[in-house]
Amino acid sequence: MKVIGIESSCDETGVALVDAGASGTPRLLAHALHSQAEMHQAYGGVVPELASRDHVRRVIPLLRQVLDEAGSRPADIDLVAYTRGPGLAGALLVGAGVAEALGVALDRPTLGVHHLEGHLLSPFLAADAPAFPFIALLVSGGHTQLMRVDEVGRYALLGETIDDAAGEAFDKSAKLLGLGYPGGPALARLAESGRADAVPLPRPLLHSGDLDFSFAGLKTAVMTRLRALGPQPTEAARADLAASAQAAIVDVLVAKTLRALADSGLQRLVVAGGVGANRRLRAQLDAAAARRGFRVHYPPLDLCTDNGAMIALAGALRAQRGLDRGRRAGPFDVRPRWPLDQI
Ligand code: KG4
Ligand code: ZN
Repeated sequence: MKVIGIESSCDETGVALVDAGASGTPRLLAHALHSQAEMHQAYGGVVPELASRDHVRRVIPLLRQVLDEAGSRPADIDLVAYTRGPGLAGALLVGAGVAEALGVALDRPTLGVHHLEGHLLSPFLAADAPAFPFIALLVSGGHTQLMRVDEVGRYALLGETIDDAAGEAFDKSAKLLGLGYPGGPALARLAESGRADAVPLPRPLLHSGDLDFSFAGLKTAVMTRLRALGPQPTEAARADLAASAQAAIVDVLVAKTLRALADSGLQRLVVAGGVGANRRLRAQLDAAAARRGFRVHYPPLDLCTDNGAMIALAGALRAQRGLDRGRRAGPFDVRPRWPLDQI
């Protein structure tokens, strides 16, 4: 069974083709991605209308590219998976519209995938795929959640952010420091030459006793510290602040994740979402895993941020298990807000 996946929930257009047998992990045949980051950079964040229009321009050429690379024809596609939500409504509608049209044209079923389920299952695209059950730390630009995953489609929310997401904390701190969009990778780069313990910053909810997060206060603390540095802070002072902000975010993510593992008694952790690419986060989780004897699974580095491969994969895994056989032509919708435990 060949499954095409289309991702267009935010500022990345992603298309991928996977091959799935009746069971076993689906195999990635080809994937292609176009990031709009450069286009949105001038505005300091994603402009939804521009995002939608760019998805319109990119999605068909990417589809062609993926089929070419996989040596496949449109008629080889058995199932069309696309991101149904959550995300920007207009952006989602582009992917959904193209997917539904493809379904009608090829007379194949379509399957609307939850974006976070895609992230959650993306480590199955890595050579060393996790086994169920596991704890998942989902850290993206819009979400910060700890979940217990018992099987494909069986997700229990253990804790989440009560305000900003971890990625937002990176992006907003980066913006304050005058770094470009998206700020996460830029802040991480600046942090490399700074000292993580240079600036005392709060670790919100570190001792709250639950698995929830809060990052909005951190951004304010970074702003206050930055102001204290005067109108023209030195490069070294900015690097120290970046390193300290990164350390504060990572400390809380690591502490809560370890707590979730301890509470559940599970020995496997999956880290997914854009912030999962962060090297400090990975180093600390890997060190804790070595110390405590649990396993950590990451998606391949290039599939941490949004992509079509995770959508094709999630569609294939759901179809394989009979959780979702897809639907035939008819009215369709997108779900800009869609809690993961409601799929
Ligand atoms: O999963 P993703 O691509 O999109 C969403 O679904 O939100 O995540 C994007 C987020 C952005 O906030 C970006 O700044 C952050 O992931 N990010 C990073 C790194 N790479 C991406 N944050 C910290 N360190 C990184 N290396
Ligand atoms: Zn995402």
